[in-house]
Amino acid sequence: MRVHFSAVPSTVIVGAQWGDEGKGKIVDLLAQKADVVCRYQGGPNAGHTIIFGGDTYKIRQLPTGILSGKTAVLGAGCVVDPEVLVGELDDYGDRGKFCLSGNAHLIMPWHVAIDQASERRLGKLQIGTTRRGIGPAYADKASRIGIRVQDLLEPKILRQKIEVALAEKNLWLERVYEADTFELEDVASRYESYAQRLRPYIADTSLLVDEALRAGKSVLFEGAQATLLDLDHGTYPFVTSSNPVASGAATGIGIGPNRLDEIIGVAKAYVTRVGEGPFPSEIESPEQEQLRELGGEFGTVTGRERRCGWLDLVALRYAVRLNGFTSLALTKLDVLSSFAEIPVCVRYLLPDGTETPHFPAHQSDFHHCRPVYETLEGWEQRLDAELPAAAQAYVEFVEHALEVPVRLVGTGAERERVLARS
Ligand code: GDP
Ligand code: IMO
Ligand code: MG
Repeated sequence: MRVHFSAVPSTVIVGAQWGDEGKGKIVDLLAQKADVVCRYQGGPNAGHTIIFGGDTYKIRQLPTGILSGKTAVLGAGCVVDPEVLVGELDDYGDRGKFCLSGNAHLIMPWHVAIDQASERRLGKLQIGTTRRGIGPAYADKASRIGIRVQDLLEPKILRQKIEVALAEKNLWLERVYEADTFELEDVASRYESYAQRLRPYIADTSLLVDEALRAGKSVLFEGAQATLLDLDHGTYPFVTSSNPVASGAATGIGIGPNRLDEIIGVAKAYVTRVGEGPFPSEIESPEQEQLRELGGEFGTVTGRERRCGWLDLVALRYAVRLNGFTSLALTKLDVLSSFAEIPVCVRYLLPDGTETPHFPAHQSDFHHCRPVYETLEGWEQRLDAELPAAAQAYVEFVEHALEVPVRLVGTGAERERVLARS
């Protein structure tokens, strides 16, 4: 299926649910007509699977656009694990041009160790993080003790900052977590070698993106994680430590919010969630396992089983509010093809007995709400160039409930398996 879309100067692609909606695939598709693809937040907690030309690519740290030979930018709002980045540059670096913001923060080995130890210590109360050091790296950024990419440019300063950090982190690891500590020489020499490798890519990425937009080039902003994992607006504390919502693209890259033209929300035709936290439309066994198998719902980064639920329009309506979607991409509709009937959550029943179409502002209401479903007819046939009437009705039901047009519909994992709707 050929997808025609008119390129606009700048488009943000945001996860509308709890992640793994197929952002990578949509970015890859749109990147064919873009000039620059930027990541604006998150780190190697992301896992995007992209399939084209018979090959499968799994990308965690680099922007997906690198695969299409575009200029790929990692902005200031990202956290960077240099080991992962160097590995991906070895694999894909020569396909496109890569630029790394000097203001992005580095994930250091103690961030990973603290993430792991802290989750272990929380036990039953754990967040279920990807254990890649994301939270501790952003915490140091907020505490203004982080080490940034631009510190890689000055070996003396880099070593000094590692030494100062280790004096505290080793105490913390040893006394609080009873975990292994790190040696200055080991960490410094590893990061000095990453510095050698990454130095040529460090650039003023805010200026680069501004100049690209001024020149009328097409720029994509590739969200990682998703709206309900947003640190400020998601299902705290079961969130990530950055701002995946669309406005995060402006702060994370360093451009004004009025530069963002289109905002595409990517939503699965159902919902998945990895890690802990409330999930009103989570499906009971054995249908949950059936959907997981059909959708291949296992984490790209951690291999964990993704929890599966029916489409939740209350949560999606909240995502529309937070992001200002100009359109939606509804992915993985094909995965629902086996079901004769498909429940869709249209309201929440709150503990006080009232029903609401709005996402609860108070955590206790969200933790204890129950989904109210409408059941839509399934189509029980393979999806192809024309959607069967029941599949078309499913898409229209979503559009009508959210008052946002669904412009792209995913009908398979490969790049070409997308239907464009006008
Ligand atoms: P991301 O993190 O949002 O980029 O999503 P992931 O790549 O982690 O997970 C989405 C998974 O669904 C990947 O394995 C994709 O190859 C796959 N996928 C994306 N769109 C579709 C679709 O429309 N249909 C099917 N069957 N699979 C899809
Ligand atoms: P993509 O970009 C799904 C979840 C983790 C955990 C919480 C916090 O592939 O959609 P973190 O390691 O970020 O501190 O974990 O966020 N999480 C994701 N879930 N997709 C992701 O990324 C995720 N990145 C983080 O499972 O619940
Ligand atoms: Mg993913």
